[in-house]
Amino acid sequence: MNVAAVVVAAGRGERAGGGVPKQYRTVGGIPVIRLVLHNLVRAGAFSTIQPVVHADAVPLFRAACDGIAMQPPVVGGATRQASVLAGLEALVPHKPDVVLVHDAARPFVSPALIARAITAGEKGAGVPALAITDTVKIVDGGVVTATLDRNVLRTIQTPQAFRFDLLLAAHRKAASAGRSDFPDDASLAEWAGAQVNVFQGDPENIKLTTPDDFIRAEATAMAAKFSTLGDVRVGSGYDVHAFGDGDHIMLGGVRIPYTRGVVGHSDADVALHALVDAILGALADGDIGVHFPPSDPQWRGASSDRFLAFAAERVRQRGGMIGHLDVTVVCEAPRVGPYREAIRARIAEIAGVSLDRVAIKATTSEKMGFTGRGEGLTASATATIRLPWQDFSTS
Ligand code: CTP
Ligand code: MG
Repeated sequence: MNVAAVVVAAGRGERAGGGVPKQYRTVGGIPVIRLVLHNLVRAGAFSTIQPVVHADAVPLFRAACDGIAMQPPVVGGATRQASVLAGLEALVPHKPDVVLVHDAARPFVSPALIARAITAGEKGAGVPALAITDTVKIVDGGVVTATLDRNVLRTIQTPQAFRFDLLLAAHRKAASAGRSDFPDDASLAEWAGAQVNVFQGDPENIKLTTPDDFIRAEATAMAAKFSTLGDVRVGSGYDVHAFGDGDHIMLGGVRIPYTRGVVGHSDADVALHALVDAILGALADGDIGVHFPPSDPQWRGASSDRFLAFAAERVRQRGGMIGHLDVTVVCEAPRVGPYREAIRARIAEIAGVSLDRVAIKATTSEKMGFTGRGEGLTASATATIRLPWQDFSTS
């Protein structure tokens, strides 16, 4: 049997806010639309997957879905119904027997739900349904006018499944009747006279609609990720450089104008060097000098962001993630405070972590010691990283 999927992604996601349409925002670091398509491909049930996108979003779509096996996207319409019809028309040459229509805003669709949908679609028309636990009332102007019997009510999700010919004919009929406002494909099929069956939906298969949905989905995704990253490690790092001739220092990847420079083999960025050692320390993976020997001329004057990007990549290569980076700089001058936010942003960018996972503090040493005399500056850092648990009991 030839089964196709239409993924409608041509909406603007207005209720979700957040700048870009919701299907292009990330959950757990992966664009929602990519999660959707990945889950459809993973089910192994479809001969053709047809995405439908907004005309303005083609570059966003390509960037998010690079490398996924599917048809090239077609452009949707002003309503969800029009977008589905565009996808169905694009499928005509592929002659599917059954088509599943799925919202791009439901990234948690499971293989089991897809299998149930296909079985239902073979019979004509089927929708995933969930029983209601809350009482549902009709309210008018802030006043309850009726209480419904929740035993006969269901909430309906996607994927909705249909015999292809049935759904295509119903959509064409609705379009030629000037109807464009059916909220889902089942209501359109009902209008066209089809019997729509229900099958068991999946409470996890939520439609991301509001900003709160994104907060909850992110928490769920992170909890799932963290549960596999149970090996929490903290590393520390320290670095010191002397002031010398010059007119600026590099600190946390940011150029700070100053009456002196810093003596060092690379760009002598104490904050980044301390952070690199903190990360390598957490990995138990040597130190900065092991990976970037000062004796090697290729690191002379090198920009230290390369060292930090390398250490962050080492964490990712081990299947881990950086939880937090924290640096304390000690110097009498220059003042670090005015550059704090720029430094945090730069470190977050280099290490590939969110801004709320980077801290930088500075202090003087109250005129005591070499930092107090203005001879140089130091930085100490801690890095918290999470790695996958390894079972060493058998090795
Ligand atoms: N959709 C579509 N074409 C439209 C409108 C909606 O393809 N003209 C798609 C959306 O991209 C989404 C699905 O239909 O995957 C369900 O719609 P909804 O959740 O309402 O998404 P949006 O319309 O994008 O969001 P909003 O209503 O908040 O603007
Ligand atoms: Mg909408």
